[in-house]
Amino acid sequence: MTDQSVVLQDVRQGMIPAHIYNDKEIFDLEKERLFSRSWLFVAHESEVPETGDYVVRRVLEDSFIISRDEMGEIRALFNMCLHRGMQVCRAEMGNASHFRCPYHGWSYRNDGRIVGLPFHQEAFGGEEGFRKKGQTLLPAPSLGIYNGLIFISMDPDAQPLEDFLGDFKFYLDYYTKQSTDGIELRGPQRWRIKANWKIGAENFAGDMYHTPQTHTSVVEIGLFREPKAEKRKDGTTYWAGNGGGTTYKLPEGSLEDRLRYVGYPDDMIERMKEQWSQQQLDVIGKDGFMISAASLFPNMSFVHNWPRVEEDSDEVLPFISIRQWQPISENETEVLSWFAVDKNASEEYKALSYKAYLMCFGSGGMFEQDDVENWVSLTNTAAGSMARRLLLNGRMGLLENGGNVVEPLTPEQYSGPGSTRVGYSEYNQRELLLRWADHLERPARAAAQLHVGVDPVSAAPAACATETAPHTAAA
Ligand code: FES
Ligand code: FE
Repeated sequence: MTDQSVVLQDVRQGMIPAHIYNDKEIFDLEKERLFSRSWLFVAHESEVPETGDYVVRRVLEDSFIISRDEMGEIRALFNMCLHRGMQVCRAEMGNASHFRCPYHGWSYRNDGRIVGLPFHQEAFGGEEGFRKKGQTLLPAPSLGIYNGLIFISMDPDAQPLEDFLGDFKFYLDYYTKQSTDGIELRGPQRWRIKANWKIGAENFAGDMYHTPQTHTSVVEIGLFREPKAEKRKDGTTYWAGNGGGTTYKLPEGSLEDRLRYVGYPDDMIERMKEQWSQQQLDVIGKDGFMISAASLFPNMSFVHNWPRVEEDSDEVLPFISIRQWQPISENETEVLSWFAVDKNASEEYKALSYKAYLMCFGSGGMFEQDDVENWVSLTNTAAGSMARRLLLNGRMGLLENGGNVVEPLTPEQYSGPGSTRVGYSEYNQRELLLRWADHLERPARAAAQLHVGVDPVSAAPAACATETAPHTAAA
């Protein structure tokens, strides 16, 4: 039995008990106290562009139908029949005005309302015995949307999504709002890795330090313009709101020069100049930094990079990927990896950017393969008895006594919000783990408070702590 208070206290000091990366008790606590109330990414609006479009996504063991109903509203419906609990929708994506349960045939509109109930009179005594009106598939307790990114929370009293995102919104715009119409997604590719979900989230949040070692070969084969992976340390890390990430230092030049340097064509640069605030443009044009990888607590990540896409050319081209580290167990994660691209980009750009993404990330991507080998090995080693005696060092950038203390940048040096620094440090990984510890220390609400039962006679679900009214999406 682990004394969790000691574990969490160690984490607060930047020391990481090694077993947290493979510990069933810790994972049970994460399910009970973290995934039960944090905002979690499930889909992007562009995946369900037309009325009736839907995708089915999981949050741990819970399956949700993310649909666009006949009124055009986004819904997140718990994918479990109100009758005897069969999974109502078994496809992964599609278009449907109704979902019919395969077991006894109850049918639901794509906004969740029951419409059909076979032998209603004979089986239930008609409307008097079981009134269909007002009965719906359970909606996710909370739903919010930002730049088309759809999040749900299992907490009916979750703080507003935009408050949760906070200043991370500033950085989200670089990935998801390069023009007025935002992004479109391809994918996700999905595959499982035998690694703990926290490792990927930490890595994408701030691990510039692993690039020269883990990804040496990718740099050596000339996939990037820069000849040395060590260049990574010239970038910044930032932490803002509930997310943080890394940047690369760009060569001298104007805003336009720098955006061209990473491969953006002029039409996209013009749209970015119209879309982004002066402050957002200054991070690139004045300060000379370009966003790269990032993570939003707890398990969503982003990556932006610009490899060469043609072997015989010096030209590079950017790609964006959105990804999620979906926990399966303490030692297994389902990776969901989407390719994202500005909707208004040319078809030629989209095709090349997709190629750039597939070379680097996704199930066959070179970076992905390098990274995952480390994470699987780490997870395996974290399971044993010796790992329970080991405190890992997560204190980079805090070293006292004349060591590498990494000071925050001033507003003159860096125009973006948050806590920002140049060089190798582990501030962002610590920020993620501090939030993780905060959740694990806070008891969950009693299950009885969240119970939702279907009242057989009345119109509305009974004893309900959950909103049943249509969701109102955030701006
Ligand atoms: Fe769905 Fe019976 S379980 S209709
Ligand atoms: Fe990596």
